[in-house]
Amino acid sequence: MKVQDLDKCAPTSEWNVLYWILGTLLMPVALPLAIIEMLHRMRAKKFRNQLPGKVVLITGASSGLGESLAHVFYRAGCKVILAARRLPELERVKNDLLALDVEPAYPPTVMPLDLAELNSIPDFVKRVLGVYNQVDILINNGGISVRADVASTAVDVDVKVMVVNYFGSVALTKALLPSMVARQNGHICFISSVQGKFAIPQRAAYSASKHAMQAFADSLRAEVANKNVNVSCISPGYVRTQLSLNALTGSGNNYGKMDETTAKGMAPDKLAERVLQCILRKEPDIIVSDLQAKIAYYLRHFCPSLYFWIMAKRAAKLEKADKKAT
Ligand SMILES: NC(=O)c1ccc[n+]([C@@H]2O[C@H](COP(=O)([O-])OP(=O)(O)OC[C@H]3O[C@@H](n4cnc5c(N)ncnc54)[C@H](OP(=O)(O)O)[C@@H]3O)[C@@H](O)[C@H]2O)c1
Repeated sequence: MKVQDLDKCAPTSEWNVLYWILGTLLMPVALPLAIIEMLHRMRAKKFRNQLPGKVVLITGASSGLGESLAHVFYRAGCKVILAARRLPELERVKNDLLALDVEPAYPPTVMPLDLAELNSIPDFVKRVLGVYNQVDILINNGGISVRADVASTAVDVDVKVMVVNYFGSVALTKALLPSMVARQNGHICFISSVQGKFAIPQRAAYSASKHAMQAFADSLRAEVANKNVNVSCISPGYVRTQLSLNALTGSGNNYGKMDETTAKGMAPDKLAERVLQCILRKEPDIIVSDLQAKIAYYLRHFCPSLYFWIMAKRAAKLEKADKKAT
């Protein structure tokens, strides 16, 4: 290339003006965002070094996201307490963890817990505190879903979903909170759902329980902000777990099918890593989902009429499909 050809490669003056305008307009937004992201990363790195030895109580640790969370926190050197109803599954998760080559490694503790047995939760917490004296991080993850429209859902099913998903987590949080407040230290994490941000047809009970969880988390966060107790609410989109297999039908039977949306959902390991980052960064409220769920979220809040119209179409389509199947 000759020296005189270099001029041809140089940006024209029109482009220079455009770059200058874009740079001037975007810099005040981009620069603070870049600084905030950098501070988040520095903080996350600092707290990651403090993770080894922290006591992490995970509910619903016998499968799906809870199992992945157990792996992520165990590999980070935490003392994990695995809680759920199915003891053999919890033992399986524990043995999988013990087989990992991790340094430092603390043997996981298995503890049976039925979130529906609200009266048993204070005793459960006494046993937990008897083992480790404290819980640094509580992850309210255990939950169930439902697949039925409102008209065909028995009230007992609405109550069950609400008790397991909402009141169970509330009871556990309340039983642990005094010890966290007394130590002026702790992190409470709620695994909600994008359905805690907007509701879709045939998920009324599930969505209502997650909306309640979101509201509880928001109130609690404000109340304990000056007590050095952090609260995070995490709203994932579809995750590839057994949630639909374990879901209830309107009559309370086991739904027992793997939904296509769930099967195509994000990997639970990836979400578990994001949950860890959220806790390290002390993020109060995050949505972890694909673009479609994020658009639905913004539509629900900024263009509700359009959102309701789309959901009515979806409900009609589901009703038609149900009629065809029966
Ligand atoms: N999968 C998704 O698409 C998705 C999307 C958004 C949010 N989430 C949320 O993620 C969380 C974990 O669900 P997952 O997707 O991992 O489903 P999963 O594989 O079915 O796991 C659910 C866990 O909750 C436990 N659980 C259910 N009922 C319980 C009870 N009465 N007492 C104690 N534990 C109970 C189960 O253990 P036992 O049966 O052994 O008790 C199991 O470990 C749930 O809160 C769910 O709402 C899931």
